[in-house]
Amino acid sequence: MSLEQIPSTTPTTQSNTNTNTTNDYTPSRTKLYKNTDSINWNYTTEFTNDNYNQMKDASFRFHKSLPDYLPTPLVRIPFNINSDNTSTTTTSTSPYSDKDIEVYVKMETSRFNLPSFKMLGTGWGIFKILCLKFGLDYTVASFTDLKTKISNTTATAQSPLTLLACTDGNHGRAVARMAAMLGLPSLIIVPRNVLDTEVAKIESEPGCTVQRVQGNYDFAVEYCDLLCGYSESLSNAAETGNGEMNFGGNGYVWVQDFGTENYTEVPVWIAEGYSTICRELPSDPDLIVVPCGSGCLPHGITAYFRDSNSKTHVMLAEPFTAHCVNKSLSLASASSDSGTSMTIMDGLNCPTVSFVAWPVLRDGVSFSGLVGELDVVEAVLKLKEEAGLDVGPCGGVSFAALMNFVSGKDDGQGGLLKELKDLKMRNGDDGPVRVVLLATEAGREFSLREEGELLKSRL
Ligand SMILES: Cc1ncc(COP(=O)(O)O)c(C=O)c1O
Repeated sequence: MSLEQIPSTTPTTQSNTNTNTTNDYTPSRTKLYKNTDSINWNYTTEFTNDNYNQMKDASFRFHKSLPDYLPTPLVRIPFNINSDNTSTTTTSTSPYSDKDIEVYVKMETSRFNLPSFKMLGTGWGIFKILCLKFGLDYTVASFTDLKTKISNTTATAQSPLTLLACTDGNHGRAVARMAAMLGLPSLIIVPRNVLDTEVAKIESEPGCTVQRVQGNYDFAVEYCDLLCGYSESLSNAAETGNGEMNFGGNGYVWVQDFGTENYTEVPVWIAEGYSTICRELPSDPDLIVVPCGSGCLPHGITAYFRDSNSKTHVMLAEPFTAHCVNKSLSLASASSDSGTSMTIMDGLNCPTVSFVAWPVLRDGVSFSGLVGELDVVEAVLKLKEEAGLDVGPCGGVSFAALMNFVSGKDDGQGGLLKELKDLKMRNGDDGPVRVVLLATEAGREFSLREEGELLKSRL
């Protein structure tokens, strides 16, 4: 496929050629994936030579060197384990009561004045790439060191570097913001599903241009690859033996949180930056619930807890209609979904699990569950009405997953709470199960069909 063909065609290929596309999997809002032995696994990745512990500290130091760094709030919310989701046909089989669980929301709804957590990972990834390009040591340099170096160098250059990324919304906005902060232009590619209101927000960043392609997220990734000649230059380097560190070409630096077989190191770096979310917690919870798209944020959270002796279990929450990671975990094989799904959880609408995140999620994640569109609307409403928290659909997905799975609707096994209580009891701890829900998106516009619009009118 040539670059000229891309904008008008629909996707024909998957970026991750090793993924399983069989249909031997049925998505379910009541079936909980479990691998609680995962807490005995130690984090490792073959896709970077950097030491994780050192990167955790270096990224935190970098975050603190950015203007406006502040830890995000952790808010205790009321939680009633018998308050069911929109379904009335299910029954609780949990022997436990409300006093057995404490629920907290980590409000990743405003970071560096952006309405999501993305700057933590994306900013750190960009910082590492550009430090390498401009000859700085990213373990000691500050944001100001890099900015000064760039402005001294680009003042004499004919055309400055452009930061390039594709996005379902928030990653692209963070790339565009970081580019603007560094005085660089950005080009952000969006797939067909991204709302015009989100495109307008990305375009509002100084120096940013947004281009929409008529394909899904995987398709947009492929478009970026062709635009900056990334894979082509990799294969040229392999032929000539003349390889230098490859972050794209044609004047572009490609910053993606999605890994393919060819593009592996940057998404691991971006995942490293998310460790700051976990280190801000006052103590390790029993469970952390993480919204999941193609897996970069879950990679970062899992790495943090599986790099230590922590007993925190990681649970992933995904849309029922865009379920590539739940499918991969259930089939024990990296998988794609059909790639045609629609969901109000736009930021999570990714058809293929990231190549570099997959081994980490397979080995380090304890639970995974799916939530429907109305589950999420109900969760957004409850957070607003009962806890005064304003979150968007991706921000409500962790709470929706907890409501769906806490008491084991339909599985007859007592659900998540019983599982976690039993695990604690085995360690001699009969205290309440402490759960942290990541709310990764601030309240925003979204549109639903009639049924949902009715619920939404309460917002
Ligand atoms: C609001 C929001 N939450 C969570 C995620 C996590 O997705 P991923 O698993 O692709 O890192 C994203 C990704 O874009 C997002 O935009």
